[in-house]
Amino acid sequence: MQSDASSNEPIIEINDVTKIYGSDVRAVDNVSLTVNRGEFFALLGPSGCGKTTLLRMLAGFETPTEGKVIIDGDDMAEVQANKRPVNMVFQSYAVFPHMTVAQNVGYGLKIDGVAKKEISARVEEALELVKLGGLGSRMPDELSGGQRQRVALARALIKRPSVLLLDEPLSALDAKLREAMQLELVRLQKTVGITFVIVTHDQAEALSMADRIAVMESGFVRQVASPAELYEHPTNRFVGDFIGQINLFSGSASPAGEGKVNVSAAPLSDQVLDGTATGSVCVAVRPEKVNVSRDKPADSNLLSIQGSVADIAYYGGYSNLYVDVGAADPVLAEITNAERGIGPGYAQGETVWVSWRPEDTLLFAE
Ligand SMILES: Nc1ncnc2c1ncn2[C@@H]1O[C@H](COP(=O)(O)OP(=O)(O)OP(=O)(O)O)[C@@H](O)[C@H]1O
Ligand SMILES: [Mg+2]
Repeated sequence: MQSDASSNEPIIEINDVTKIYGSDVRAVDNVSLTVNRGEFFALLGPSGCGKTTLLRMLAGFETPTEGKVIIDGDDMAEVQANKRPVNMVFQSYAVFPHMTVAQNVGYGLKIDGVAKKEISARVEEALELVKLGGLGSRMPDELSGGQRQRVALARALIKRPSVLLLDEPLSALDAKLREAMQLELVRLQKTVGITFVIVTHDQAEALSMADRIAVMESGFVRQVASPAELYEHPTNRFVGDFIGQINLFSGSASPAGEGKVNVSAAPLSDQVLDGTATGSVCVAVRPEKVNVSRDKPADSNLLSIQGSVADIAYYGGYSNLYVDVGAADPVLAEITNAERGIGPGYAQGETVWVSWRPEDTLLFAE
């Protein structure tokens, strides 16, 4: 989702930041990235890749071993967590069980010595913002999981931070509630205009919510881009494979002049493709870009391979066809079931052709 509110003015600058735990755990490895003011930014990657560690360094709960964190123009090296213009919502969304919703939300202001009258006005405003208006006198155990989550959000928002850091804020919710909360979080972020940095290991969550995403692996940032850019133009195999589904063929490439390479990746051979990667490479294509036909496609520009239908999975609106082409893995083609009652129209064991356009082919250096 592209935000109108986000600017190109950086609010967070992470410069060559490394975090080493003990003597040898490189949790975050030489990471540089910029988050813009008003942006909804996601840190995405598998378990243990360093997402929480990076977020905690922004919050001030961890100190970088090397490198610099700048927030709102100020170097954070000497700035304590409670003095930073950020607020963090933890994965466990801890709310105080013995306090009412209103007391929970107003707690931070009370600690800061804000006048009672102002606290109650701001609490009511914050509760309205997260759609909990009128529930201030409830106790946390009288709320649903999603409502408790929103209490934690209201508590973080009430202090009007420049940046809100959210560590897997929705992971405790069931799938349906989670999807509803994803939309609500985006709405909320656009309403308040605060910069959000959210940590998630759920790619669908990151794709649907964020303006930009940093994909992490083993402490490294592998690519920073918009959701559509990451999906359609991943710059390396890890990102292509981690985001969405993808067909991969390993092989080798040699220069063919003018920004082109000659690629052989079984069962594809001698394909001239756009690209610069040579040596060991990986050819890839997304399943929805792959066509299936009974006859060999007439268009000789297409990359086409003959195979046989190994499996068919019907999902209502679309079907996944797995076509055995003699490679390590079958080729996955996602077919839209546009015609009512027909399904994909192929039978297991049937001989078919899979094909796709050269411009839909991705090429990764290995
Ligand atoms: N306090 C610590 N001491 C030592 N090692 C740690 C510490 N905290 C994290 N690590 C290690 O640093 C690496 C990154 O951890 P981190 O919690 O940042 O990952 P993550 O991406 O948030 O994972 P998850 O998705 O499971 O929450 C892991 O290998 C982890 O074991
Ligand atoms: Mg984590």
